[in-house]
Amino acid sequence: MAIQWFPGHMHLTRKAIQERIKEIDVVIELLDARLPGSSANPMLAEITAAKPALKVLNKQDLADPERTALWLEHYNRQPGTRALGLDASMATPAKALVAACHELAPKRGGMTKPMRVLICGIPNVGKSTLINTLKGKRAAKTGDEAGVTKLEQRITIADDFYLYDTPGVLWPRIIVAKSGYNLAASGAIGRNAFDEQEVALELLDYLRQHYPTTLEERYKISGAASLTDEQLLDAIGRKRGGLLSGGKINLQKAAEVAIYDFRQSSLGRITLETPDEFAQWLAVGQKIDAERQIKKDAIEMARLIKFKKVPRPPRVPEDNAENSD
Ligand code: G4P
Repeated sequence: MAIQWFPGHMHLTRKAIQERIKEIDVVIELLDARLPGSSANPMLAEITAAKPALKVLNKQDLADPERTALWLEHYNRQPGTRALGLDASMATPAKALVAACHELAPKRGGMTKPMRVLICGIPNVGKSTLINTLKGKRAAKTGDEAGVTKLEQRITIADDFYLYDTPGVLWPRIIVAKSGYNLAASGAIGRNAFDEQEVALELLDYLRQHYPTTLEERYKISGAASLTDEQLLDAIGRKRGGLLSGGKINLQKAAEVAIYDFRQSSLGRITLETPDEFAQWLAVGQKIDAERQIKKDAIEMARLIKFKKVPRPPRVPEDNAENSD
């Protein structure tokens, strides 16, 4: 079963961004470097399509550097787009951000035409941390729940460079089943919205194919690549999860351990998708979406046809209605 996650209030964020975007020169989208495709919000791409875009692959300290390079190359090839990697250990990220924005909007700058930049990203991607670093002091979060519009923050990076925080919360939108699992593994979606064992099995399935040695080293197992995801979860349970009464393996605990280890980068620096893989998942997701839409349209058409067939009672002209008394 794919992950179901339907956060409300996206329309409020959409409206607020549409309003703000008119006076924006560059849009910075913060992505999780471990899952850049899945942590992007397709609605944001749609409503900011006309603006130059800076993709920031954040938390690069947790991601596979070779794959981060692939993603940067992928975004840098797109017109009107630049990309760079960041992480919270960088004391002065402003320099790189400012330079990239000036490259994207070279006509902006100076007191009469200050650079106006909007910074967006799904929850947990590290936006508050970055903003706090840019501000140089800790700032309290103004609202993290659906529908709680954050008080708009304008951060002055330089006299002629303003950064605006997203008005509202930009939730992820899951159009690809695999994205749901990756977002859940990363911690971007609420705990109650997914089943840990299901997410851990998907995670292990990917890791055994792409990072088998990290699994072998962490859990002291051999031949990880040739085990099934269920066997791997079993093995982790046996090593780390403890046993339930009757000698049964605590698979729930094993799943929590695997997810926790991934989030803490105890498995090493891992990226759960490459640009090519994500493009394939997206193509499948879009095909399913299109088929669903065709089915919906067919049902709607059938409903209309049925509706038209219902004989309507003849309309009595008002004059006649009065005369009939
Ligand atoms: P948000 O505003 O986008 O929702 O994200 P926020 O800055 O609150 O960051 C979410 C979590 O990610 C925090 O951890 C934060 O410390 C961590 N984080 C942010 N940037 C980076 C980064 O570049 N690298 C790494 N490794 N982690 C980063 P937390 O455990 O939820 O909170 P806390 O322990 O920092 O209090």
